[in-house]
Amino acid sequence: MTGNQHTAKKFDLSGLNGISDRTLEMHFKLYEGYVAETNRLNEKIAEFLRDGKVDQEETPAYSEITRRMGFEYNGMVLHEYYFGNLTRQGSPDPPRDSPFARAAAASFSSYDVWKADFLSVGKMRGVGWAICALDPERGTLSNHWVSLHEIGNVAGFSPLLVMDVWEHAFLLDYKPAERTKYIEAFFSNVCWDTVERRLSPRDPRDVTQPQRRRPMASGSQRASH
Ligand SMILES: [Fe+2]
Repeated sequence: MTGNQHTAKKFDLSGLNGISDRTLEMHFKLYEGYVAETNRLNEKIAEFLRDGKVDQEETPAYSEITRRMGFEYNGMVLHEYYFGNLTRQGSPDPPRDSPFARAAAASFSSYDVWKADFLSVGKMRGVGWAICALDPERGTLSNHWVSLHEIGNVAGFSPLLVMDVWEHAFLLDYKPAERTKYIEAFFSNVCWDTVERRLSPRDPRDVTQPQRRRPMASGSQRASH
């Protein structure tokens, strides 16, 4: 056992609109699988390092495990963002004058254009995720397609709204060709309070660096410190 072990989080989401409890239960199990696999890989790495180095004969196995870290870690973390931005009391859109809506409008020409872009990302063919992320350096929002769990994440960007569009997210409730219906259901359950909390830097170091700006939502003034 190493210090790099993670515990699966619990999410109380039964009774969502258009995403069944059966889907959620299956999805929680998948998420727990990513947590377990992340822990297992961390343990393997620790085993390799037990003698203080990676021996040459260990390099192929070590490399394979290390490459898989991106998949398993992002599989764990993205599911936490995803479940975390859902709620039984969700709504398809935030209030128009809310920090998120204003931030989206500041980075796109309007909130509606931001949403059209996000929906289009979500409908892209393939296995992956639609993610609206904050660039904490510039305070701008952008929407991204992430293949699998790890291809397309931008280093340092902070996910605000995360939508799983792997088929397992909706296949018990909708046909494979009905992803649009699932996306509509997803949006009806979005917890915009959570999304907006993610707009604020969680790490206090983020607001003490003089060159950094707060997200657009808070205005364009320099962070005070
Ligand atoms: Fe998933």
